[in-house]
Amino acid sequence: MSWSPDSWRNFPIKQQPEYKDKELLKKVEEELKRYPPLIFAGEARNLKEQLAKAGRGEAFIVQGGDCAESFNAFNADVIKNLFKLILQMSVVVAYSSGKSVVKIGRVAGQFAKPRSSDFEERNGIKLPSYRGDIINSIEFNEKAREADPFRMLRAYNQSAATMNLLRAFSRGGLADLTQVHRWNLDFIKNHPIGQKYEEISCQIDKAMNFLKAAGLTPKNTPQLKQTTLFTSHEALLLNYEEALTRVDSITGNWYNTSAHMLWIGDRTRDLNGAHVEYFRGIHNPIGCKVGPSMQTDELIELVKTLNPQNEEGKLNLIVRMGANKIEKLFPPLLKAVTDAKLNVVWTIDPMHGNVEKSSTGFKTREFDNILSEVKSFFKIHKEYGTVAAGVHLEMTGENVTECTGSASCHITVDDLSSRYHTQCDPRLNANQALELAFMISENF
Ligand code: PEP
Ligand code: CO
Repeated sequence: MSWSPDSWRNFPIKQQPEYKDKELLKKVEEELKRYPPLIFAGEARNLKEQLAKAGRGEAFIVQGGDCAESFNAFNADVIKNLFKLILQMSVVVAYSSGKSVVKIGRVAGQFAKPRSSDFEERNGIKLPSYRGDIINSIEFNEKAREADPFRMLRAYNQSAATMNLLRAFSRGGLADLTQVHRWNLDFIKNHPIGQKYEEISCQIDKAMNFLKAAGLTPKNTPQLKQTTLFTSHEALLLNYEEALTRVDSITGNWYNTSAHMLWIGDRTRDLNGAHVEYFRGIHNPIGCKVGPSMQTDELIELVKTLNPQNEEGKLNLIVRMGANKIEKLFPPLLKAVTDAKLNVVWTIDPMHGNVEKSSTGFKTREFDNILSEVKSFFKIHKEYGTVAAGVHLEMTGENVTECTGSASCHITVDDLSSRYHTQCDPRLNANQALELAFMISENF
């Protein structure tokens, strides 16, 4: 079957906005098509190789970021703190496991959100749902909720600036292994978790001194002073994704150049739908959400469609069942995929199956449930002799109070209101994310 970046337009599509001004939409799409790529095909191939390693148990994936990036919260410190947090978590995991860590920020493009309803009603007023800053605005009024094509250009520009800063941090000195103490975020430094991290940092200092004595320094050994942070996001708004889909001049293959890895959602993975049609043609690694509604035969078909060559590292299945469902729902899927000899990279997203409404009305997640789902995921893989290849967390390097619990910061239901800033789902703060990294490091 032939494929082109716009062949998805011939298929039924879910979770899209209704743009009123079709001419303007077309103009914006044409403009986006002229904009430079944000990533290169060679980088996406590199990520595929790294993911393949993780799938074989030779590396571990740490992926994370906001549920939804926002135009208002865009600033350098937020990006820097997320970058530092991913580095800290990677150090903790790498130090205990001896595995390299594949670092992926679900950032620089994570702007479009699937919604459970097309409309939101408040006090008798019904308006289109907020679908992420790339589409409309979160404020509850008619103008704000109208889908505006210009927002795609703003999302592109914010993604480009974010990417630029992440690349500078990765190569410009912040990732230098002689700087591990600098990654400890100010507000966690004096907490037990921050101190536990300091202990590892001191060990790394010793190792670096030893390497220096042996003649290896960040100056003569680039691996010691730089890192690679890949990016991902959910490719939900296909008008945007199509405009950034380009032919790689080396291989002649199509790549989505808006991120290294693109996610396909649980609500848009319909085998006969537009999203699957789009995804089957791109050569980037793909992340696919696997939630409680996934059926075994459906998953097998989906895996075969998204990874027709059965390549290693091409397809990352992101399991998100919930702490109380994973033991029942995940093993049959794992067994079916393993028996069919399909190459996939299994990671756990312990966030989306564990959402609850607090008694004070906040959408939250309890840290113990998050922890429990991660532990079950590792345990099930041990039982089946398969590989738990990584984790995806909704997290921020900021000191927010959005998820309850954890030994490191004991956030209670009453604390939630103090710094609840998320645009969409509740995120782990840096303390909680680092605590989870320590727990993961004990499970290898
Ligand atoms: C997400 O991946 O952040 C998310 C909100 O997913 P979903 O809406 O598909 O549950
Ligand atoms: Co989310």
